[in-house]
Amino acid sequence: MFEIEQKVMDESRQGEAYEGVLDTLSAPNKRFYIESYGCQMNFSDSEIIASILQSSGFGSTRDVEQANLILLNTCSIREKAEQTIRKRLTEFKKIKRSNSSLLIGVLGCMAERLKSKLLEEEKLVDIVVGPDAYRTLPQLIEEAETGEKAVNVLLSREETYADIAPVRINSNGITAFVSIMRGCNNMCTFCVVPFTRGRERSRDHASIVDECKDLFDRGFKEVTLLGQNVDSYYWVDPVSNHAVDFAMLLEKVAKINPALRVRFSTSHPKDITEKVLQTMKAYDNICKYIHLPLQSGSTRILQLMNRTYTREWYLAKVKRIREVMPDCAISSDIIAGFCTEDDQDHLDTLDVMRNSKYEYSYMFMYSERPGTLAAKRYKDDVPMEIKKKRLEEIVSLQNQLSLETNKLDIGKKVEVLIEGNSKKNEKQWMGRNSQNKVVVFDKTDKALQPGDYVWVEVKDCTQGTLLGNMVS
Ligand code: SAH
Ligand code: SF4
Ligand code: F3S
Repeated sequence: MFEIEQKVMDESRQGEAYEGVLDTLSAPNKRFYIESYGCQMNFSDSEIIASILQSSGFGSTRDVEQANLILLNTCSIREKAEQTIRKRLTEFKKIKRSNSSLLIGVLGCMAERLKSKLLEEEKLVDIVVGPDAYRTLPQLIEEAETGEKAVNVLLSREETYADIAPVRINSNGITAFVSIMRGCNNMCTFCVVPFTRGRERSRDHASIVDECKDLFDRGFKEVTLLGQNVDSYYWVDPVSNHAVDFAMLLEKVAKINPALRVRFSTSHPKDITEKVLQTMKAYDNICKYIHLPLQSGSTRILQLMNRTYTREWYLAKVKRIREVMPDCAISSDIIAGFCTEDDQDHLDTLDVMRNSKYEYSYMFMYSERPGTLAAKRYKDDVPMEIKKKRLEEIVSLQNQLSLETNKLDIGKKVEVLIEGNSKKNEKQWMGRNSQNKVVVFDKTDKALQPGDYVWVEVKDCTQGTLLGNMVS
């Protein structure tokens, strides 16, 4: 079954199961190697970690054999995410055997969830650091160098790493993630994130705008504002008492320059406001794309999930988005086989998908996470075989919807930001349009380069890609 899940994620544009390795920084005698798993927040955190380590004299390496310190920035969202990490740790055992001074650190959500238990379970791990404790990493490394096991999993109500300039890793130099808030207060019953990331807190808007300005000055053309629930962004200036909400922040970033595209992720359906929709509409450079996770199309299941909206309420939100911005793409997250889900609940999910006409979705089987409200309150009672079958049906419907919405673009002219070569053919460029759809087209103009905007007429499509020709 996991193959399906993996396949879905491979096709995803968020790169949830993506493994990133750091570009080489300067090379002093101590070098770290880092791999990141999970959501974009984790990838963004790895850039903060790289910055902290660089400031304390570490260089980086992409070659694990050259490293004095191996770091895994981990995810706990589903059981499989944790299994992947444990497998990776087993692979590091061999390297550690041949290099006894090598230190191995587990960071991120799995570190936070398991805390020092991780040291008992995974004997080769030397350092365990939770998402709010990265500033202490240099001291923890020093401690571990003396042979002690080092742990800091304290969660914070204030930490936003606002003053740390991230070192852009594995960057294409065109698109970047900017973290605007941390944590989550929502308590969806299936979700481990509130436990691994702590309370929600927003980052000072001035530091966000400065970071985006700096990126633009360095040639970046697109920023994605990141948070578990960006629509509840709220910053009150401690001196002036002036408050900035998400719509205001979006506007501030959009105003930096019309040539800087602005995206954001993720919106909780209950929090995305009319003001945000109107701000999106008002600025061409705010991309017409909303990730609006549904989770389930059954009101009964949504209630058990504590999502705080009903199926009708969600559909009305989708309708409103399409009224305000007919060209806005909407994507979703869907969980198959949550506790007590029956055939009718599943049909309700398929029905909302059809009605919402998602451009794409990230689709998962429910995976019970220890400590969550669902694990405490409900039985994980949908058999694996049924979860698998329902997920297959969801995936198959989404494939159909993606193809249908892509077909509607044939004949349209779309503005594309070139990100690089097409993976399949170096003679073609790959970029995205405002709706976040991947667009591939021939390199007919030699003067073009990544970071340029071009107009492309869509001639054909697959389920995941628009294919076209450049037009002047
Ligand atoms: N903050 C984001 C979600 C972050 S987790 C939001 O609220 O939209 C990303 C997705 O993983 C979730 O939307 C959900 O679909 C899925 N997910 C979370 N916990 C899960 C679990 N226990 N089993 C299966 N999928 C899960
Ligand atoms: Fe998890 Fe819900 Fe918070 Fe998203 S909004 S991170 S699904 S608790
Ligand atoms: Fe995973 Fe933590 Fe993100 S659990 S999805 S890395 S917030």
